[in-house]
Amino acid sequence: MARILPAMASQMIIVFFLLYSFSATFVSAAEEQGFGTPLDPKQHKLKKEKLSHFHFFFHDILSGRNPTAIQVVPPATNTSKTGFGSVAIMDDPLTVGPNLSSKTIGKAQGLYASASQEAFSLLMVMNFAFTEGKYNGSSLSIVGRNPGGTREFPVVGGSGLFRFARGYALATTHSFNLTSGDAVVEYNVYVFHY
Ligand SMILES: *[C@@H]1O[C@H](CO)[C@@H](O)[C@H](O)[C@H]1NC(C)=O
Ligand SMILES: *[C@@H]1O[C@H](CO)[C@@H](O)[C@H](O)[C@H]1NC(C)=O
Ligand SMILES: *[C@@H]1O[C@H](CO)[C@@H](O)[C@H](O)[C@H]1NC(C)=O
Ligand SMILES: *[C@@H]1O[C@H](CO)[C@@H](O)[C@H](O)[C@H]1NC(C)=O
Repeated sequence: MARILPAMASQMIIVFFLLYSFSATFVSAAEEQGFGTPLDPKQHKLKKEKLSHFHFFFHDILSGRNPTAIQVVPPATNTSKTGFGSVAIMDDPLTVGPNLSSKTIGKAQGLYASASQEAFSLLMVMNFAFTEGKYNGSSLSIVGRNPGGTREFPVVGGSGLFRFARGYALATTHSFNLTSGDAVVEYNVYVFHY
């Protein structure tokens, strides 16, 4: 009897150890699931990815009593030929036609900053916040490099109908007033979204 006891005790220790390590495994699996869980895209209403094209005009108005873009940081030096370091914040109307009085479909909200010391180039960081039709309340997020000419900005994401969006925006200057700095820019945006 006295000889058996130590053997039983060691078996019980092994059983306890196994139970403990199993429960530890379950707990850590449950913790990982709570943090990140694989989902079925179909059950998440993500059926088929589609490609959409958007065409509109962007109005960057610096002049007058109601400018839509305002410089908030001046260039770092007065000698920079590219205005390096300057930052402007915009709330630029997006319209269906080149005329500002044509139908407004949203705003381009964000900033542009002079980010090149040699040749002129802007960093564009903006959201196209749509306010018309089924896209009302949805937005596209754009981050890109603007060296002038026909420029291409990546669409890096979106909200609402544009969740999981990716694509690109092509921008060309439609008109530019050298005196006032006001610009009308034509946009063609191609987006994959659900
Ligand atoms: C740039 O010029 C303006 C006006 O002459 C002056 O007030 C400002 O201090 C200058 N800024 C720098 C960074 O030199
Ligand atoms: C823009 O529309 C307004 C109002 O319809 C009109 O008076 C103006 O001439 C138009 N401007 C251009 C450049 O077409
Ligand atoms: C867009 O949505 C906002 C907020 O729901 C609403 O107030 C506005 O009337 C809508 N605009 C259009 C054109 O449907
Ligand atoms: C350009 O801007 C100036 C200054 O705001 C204005 O007087 C002029 O009419 C504008 N030119 C055109 C073509 O809109």
